[in-house]
Amino acid sequence: MTNLLIKEILALPPTSQDVTVRGWVRTKRETKNLVFIEVNDGSGFNGIQCTFDRGNTLVDALLAALAAVSTGSSVEIRGALVPSPASGQKVEVAASALRIIGDAPAETTGDIPAYPLQKKRHSLEFLREIAHLRPRTNTFGAVARVRSRLGFAVHQFFQERGFQYLTTPLITANDAEGAGAMFQVTTLDLAALAASGKAPDYSRDFFGKRAFLTVSGQLEAETYALALTRVYTFGPTFRAENSNTTRHLAEFWMIEPEAAFAHLEDNMALAEDFLKYLFNVALRDCAADLAFFDAHVEKGIIDTLKSVIDSKFVHMTYTDAVAELEKAAVGFEFKPYWGCDLQSEHERFLTEKLIKGPVILTDYPKEIKAFYMKMNDDDKTVRAMDVLVPRLGEIIGGSEREDNLARLERRLRELGLDASSYGWYLDLRRYGTAPHSGFGMGFERLVQYVTGMANIRDVIPYPRAVGQAEF
Ligand code: 4AD
Ligand code: MG
Repeated sequence: MTNLLIKEILALPPTSQDVTVRGWVRTKRETKNLVFIEVNDGSGFNGIQCTFDRGNTLVDALLAALAAVSTGSSVEIRGALVPSPASGQKVEVAASALRIIGDAPAETTGDIPAYPLQKKRHSLEFLREIAHLRPRTNTFGAVARVRSRLGFAVHQFFQERGFQYLTTPLITANDAEGAGAMFQVTTLDLAALAASGKAPDYSRDFFGKRAFLTVSGQLEAETYALALTRVYTFGPTFRAENSNTTRHLAEFWMIEPEAAFAHLEDNMALAEDFLKYLFNVALRDCAADLAFFDAHVEKGIIDTLKSVIDSKFVHMTYTDAVAELEKAAVGFEFKPYWGCDLQSEHERFLTEKLIKGPVILTDYPKEIKAFYMKMNDDDKTVRAMDVLVPRLGEIIGGSEREDNLARLERRLRELGLDASSYGWYLDLRRYGTAPHSGFGMGFERLVQYVTGMANIRDVIPYPRAVGQAEF
């Protein structure tokens, strides 16, 4: 690429060399002799100021273009890179040429409505309706850059530790979590079926049987972990849960490491290292974006991330956590009891009031966890772990896996799951079984935590949730 990005131009020394800036106009301000245009190309948080000096005999054509420039238009500006007298920026462009590449009318013109992102604060709800334009705002540009950097850091973390990247199928015939909240995939003509009043014949469906979008790549990841020892997936995941919350999406990206010869303790240590690594990368490489989130989105988020990096995650069993909740003199909406699924208010109490930091809960009742988790000797609890963080609750869920064939078969029977559809999964316990563990982290939960954004729908470009599939 021969074009320089604005972030590269901003890092150059101001030696009056000629530079060409391309991007979208954020603001235009005028004084008697000067016109200031702030251009942003999304390469970093900061745009660059381009100053036009009218006293400097600007040609008529340039004056006309200057008058026509409005917020949102794409422009190309050339000029000398000089030291900036303004605070908060080292350099600016003493502009001598301007070309409007694409207009963005400030008022409705013909059948083109006015550019909706005028210089004022817009609500996040409004911006969700124009999700195709919101990356041009400070907030969503910053979210996109943090998301990009964290996505790369996920690969760096695992690749540096001997984990192989594995892609697992998105279309699947099995329910990896045994929970049933799956989207069906079919090429059957549903309208014709409904009209005929006949039951669907899935043997005539595309795959010759019922198929779904995957809720997790874990089971396939286990097969590769018992061959390559350490693997991880990073891909889209689908959940048809009808949960209209600020931390659930119907389509999200999940990272699932899986390691052979690893027990729950190893898994917990990996999860803790992983989160700290990612927070460090964000603090180091996304400093300007995080400073913005700290100032305008979630005050103190930078200190929170630093304190998590410096902390040792507290480990606690589910049983001890429930005892603490029962002891707590807090009016919970849902009364906690041993065997209950922890509600968001419980998770918040544990992380924000009791521990005041991240906590890893382990050894949950088998009834509230998936079939594949390793049974403890008490036959009541399983080797599960959930990493809970303040504000958000569960950010990671995982476990040691049941590696004993007879116990796994018994568990499938108890849960009424059809062992015949898990044949290949059971083979792992028939041939060369080994202890193994893994976890899943929702990528959007991570981005939410790091940026402090309140709603998960604002940390993925085009959110899919109940009743929402625009763009
Ligand atoms: O706890 P979950 O359901 O665990 C699994 O899917 C396991 N197969 C993971 C494993 O052991 N390999 O989901 C894991 C994580 C959660 O902790 C949460 O961060 C995220 O995925 N998650 C969601 N994120 C956004 N929207 C949803 N609907 C989510 N459901 C789970
Ligand atoms: Mg979970």
